[in-house]
Amino acid sequence: MSTPTHDSPKKVTTRTLLKKKQDGKPITMLTGYDYATAVALDKAGIDAILVGDSLGMVVLGHPTTLPVTMEDMISHCQAVSRGASTPLLIGDMPFMSYQVSVHEAVRNAGRFLKEAGMDAVKLEGGRDRAEAVRAIVSTGIPVMGHLGLTPQSVHQMGGFRAQAKTVEAGKVLIQDALILEQAGAFSIVLESIPARLATLVSERLSIPTIGIGAGVGCDGQVLVTHDMLGLFDRFTPRFVKTYADLHGEMARAFGEYIQDVEAGAFPAEEHSLDVSEDVWSALIDALEYPEREPSV
Ligand code: KIV
Repeated sequence: MSTPTHDSPKKVTTRTLLKKKQDGKPITMLTGYDYATAVALDKAGIDAILVGDSLGMVVLGHPTTLPVTMEDMISHCQAVSRGASTPLLIGDMPFMSYQVSVHEAVRNAGRFLKEAGMDAVKLEGGRDRAEAVRAIVSTGIPVMGHLGLTPQSVHQMGGFRAQAKTVEAGKVLIQDALILEQAGAFSIVLESIPARLATLVSERLSIPTIGIGAGVGCDGQVLVTHDMLGLFDRFTPRFVKTYADLHGEMARAFGEYIQDVEAGAFPAEEHSLDVSEDVWSALIDALEYPEREPSV
């Protein structure tokens, strides 16, 4: 992590996000999983980077986020924290790292700050996770909640599908949001829920909401970086706006490289090293007349 100077932008904290909500300024968040992307996100001036367990799908190629381990998360969080110093850094707690017991939840949350350079953690779920949220927050670790489409419950939801589309489900989601706020969460991600419901939740909470597929009424927005860059080939959720076609750009660059190598056009002279004439002729002499070589 670079050392802050007088010119460095001010570190974003949970208080910065709260102030943005209070001032009506939208909060920006994207996912990041590696050093290079973290540097680019920091330079772009993003408020927060989420090292999401979505890395299980978009980086590691798993069909869901369920196989992601604490070790996967710690390693990717460390890479991100080496590349980004200004944004708030949030580590996503993987499946089964906080559900088994409150004790394990606190211990694993602690690893994100102690070992991985994160400033906060995120976990999925509402009232069932309130005790864990309270216990983690009581140790001084900021917690972000996550409601609506919670990918770690993909099998319970019967797929990656929009949530809270009925009156009853809408009421439960509002209650869960209030419970998480009372338990001490500093912010809540709302994923794939009706935009009007997300606006209502955002108005009822004093902590900021960050939407993904939840409309413009949230206090901030997050997207999976691989989705918005066009880097994930399997599917693109309807709520994603793609800002680049990096998959297309990679295919073009890889194809050009293969052609260049096959045609002998790469490496060219400017990509090659040389030695001085003196060294070269001495080397050729030594190879032609090995008996002249000094004995060791
Ligand atoms: O893992 C993730 O990237 C997330 C976002 C979709 C919010 O949880």
